[in-house]
Amino acid sequence: YTVTVDTGARGPAVDDTMYGVFFEDINRAADGGLYAELVQNRSFEYSTADNGSYTPLTSWSVSGTAEVVNDSGRLNERNRNYASLAAGSSVTNSGYNTGVRVEKGERYDFSVWARAEAGATLTVTLKDAAGTLADTRKVAVRGGWTQYKATFTASRTSNRGRLTVATAADAALDMVSLFPRETYKNQPNGLRKDLAEKIAALKPGFLRFPGGCLVNTGSMEDYSEASGWQRKRAYQWKDTVGPVEERATNANFWGYNQSYGLGYYEYFRFAEDIGAMPLPVVPALVTGCGQNRATDDEALLKRHIQDTLDLIEFANGPTTSTWGGLRAEMGHPRPFHLTHIAVGNEENLPREFFSRFQRFRAAVEAEHPDITVISNSGPDDAGTVFDTAWQLNREGGVDMVDEHYYNSPQWFLRNNDRYDSYDRQGPKVFLGEYASQGNAWRNALAEAAYMTGLERNADVVKLASYAPLLANEDYVQWSPDMIWFNNHASWGSVNYEVQKLFMTNVGDRVVPSEASTTPDAGGPLTGAVGLSTWATSAAYDDVSVTAADGTTLLSDDFSGDASQWTHSGRGSWGVQDGQYVQTDEAAENTLVTAGDPAWHDYDLQVKATKRSGKEGF
Ligand code: AHR
Repeated sequence: YTVTVDTGARGPAVDDTMYGVFFEDINRAADGGLYAELVQNRSFEYSTADNGSYTPLTSWSVSGTAEVVNDSGRLNERNRNYASLAAGSSVTNSGYNTGVRVEKGERYDFSVWARAEAGATLTVTLKDAAGTLADTRKVAVRGGWTQYKATFTASRTSNRGRLTVATAADAALDMVSLFPRETYKNQPNGLRKDLAEKIAALKPGFLRFPGGCLVNTGSMEDYSEASGWQRKRAYQWKDTVGPVEERATNANFWGYNQSYGLGYYEYFRFAEDIGAMPLPVVPALVTGCGQNRATDDEALLKRHIQDTLDLIEFANGPTTSTWGGLRAEMGHPRPFHLTHIAVGNEENLPREFFSRFQRFRAAVEAEHPDITVISNSGPDDAGTVFDTAWQLNREGGVDMVDEHYYNSPQWFLRNNDRYDSYDRQGPKVFLGEYASQGNAWRNALAEAAYMTGLERNADVVKLASYAPLLANEDYVQWSPDMIWFNNHASWGSVNYEVQKLFMTNVGDRVVPSEASTTPDAGGPLTGAVGLSTWATSAAYDDVSVTAADGTTLLSDDFSGDASQWTHSGRGSWGVQDGQYVQTDEAAENTLVTAGDPAWHDYDLQVKATKRSGKEGF
């Protein structure tokens, strides 16, 4: 290859905020993930409305007599269930994944809201099958709902701990919590350190949250008596702030329960802690993500627009204001410096969305002209919705448009020039979600190649984030993901390493360059072919591709791991002579057809070893 760099020329400036992260509570990214709480279903609010397999006692086991009650004796109106235990009974929590994780020598803060009019002593133990994990604690309870606390120091490390609360007399319990003393930056109600550190190591320019489909589906109503205390409501920021025991839980779009323990205050605080610009997404009164419904309720629309203005006040307002005051009360008198806000996610009804978007934007701009209100372009990278959305966004003078796409590695290689032709006078692009469909090396390489195209067009593409960010390996709704974890370990994918490479090396300015090559000069091809890896993954090991002169162009030991292919369903190794090899995705075991007439005719031999040991392809 010859790379020619024009050191005298000035390409577009690259903003420090160019690369960021998108956190969505998918794959249990929050509860059982980034949110450090170790007790699952701590407030007994799990419900079949969240997931058909749930009951209010999910992840709890009972010894003696204990039931979950929803009556006027509750802790508060938004935390409706509690556990009622008869004298001599206990409840035991099994945490996430294999159990409650504790580490030898570390401290853990236990707390519980309890009620025992006649008085009761609670005995709190931390054990696993091999025995105790910390000294037992006794908590004396008397009277109405009060929070009680105790601290454990773990005597052993275990991933299989169980937290038991036993009572000698009748007692009611709610918000049974166990938190590691050490959280990220030791913030109260804080974040799991290893995960937060992995995210921080990316040096994200921004933090987009909380979704994704999570944001914009379900009912737009509030959680209130008037709405029948409904679940499956859109993610509304006011549900997620204030004391944790007063935050209602909700059915998560991805099929579980979300506690909102990790809420808007914690998101803003995390963004600040990692030096990222906060970028919240609010529901747009149109439901995307396959639901295709637009709410036509003027009062509701007005309420959501007001909620958006209140959100800005919560983030930036003075402590004397209502919502700025709540921020201060929660521990952060200083503003969070919100500058961007997105309305809606993957809207499938572009016209309905855009008319509502304009109302949000007008209201925000009237009060906060410095805030950028981001629109979106639907769920796909092309097509009617995309075209209509872009046309409306262009004509409507929108500042920035959110684009999302999940495509094959080949797509990413082929579309490196996607933004070269975007209108320089039109809206800027926020690439809020993208990923090639896999966590394999070739996916990461394709993403890296693509990111050079984003950067080359840094005058148009202002923000970009890979998605999704986190996945608990035992609760996966979406794959691939950037960072994986269970209850005791976390690991970055190869895609994470690519993101880190780019994110920690953001240049100031693009320097125009050109690359050329002469494949006929006799050198080996570089990453030149595509194979139908669907069949390969299922049935073959040790695939190699050899040129006529015997040069090995590719070899891959699939190590018997079919799972890494499940989501890509196909494979490609890149570019040849500026052209891409077209994998025939329909036909199994088919070696490539060249997709371009300018394709060079190489004599390639493909060898694959069948799992049976027989050679052939
Ligand atoms: O990132 C996972 C999902 O992909 C997001 O929730 C949604 O916006 C997109 O379809």
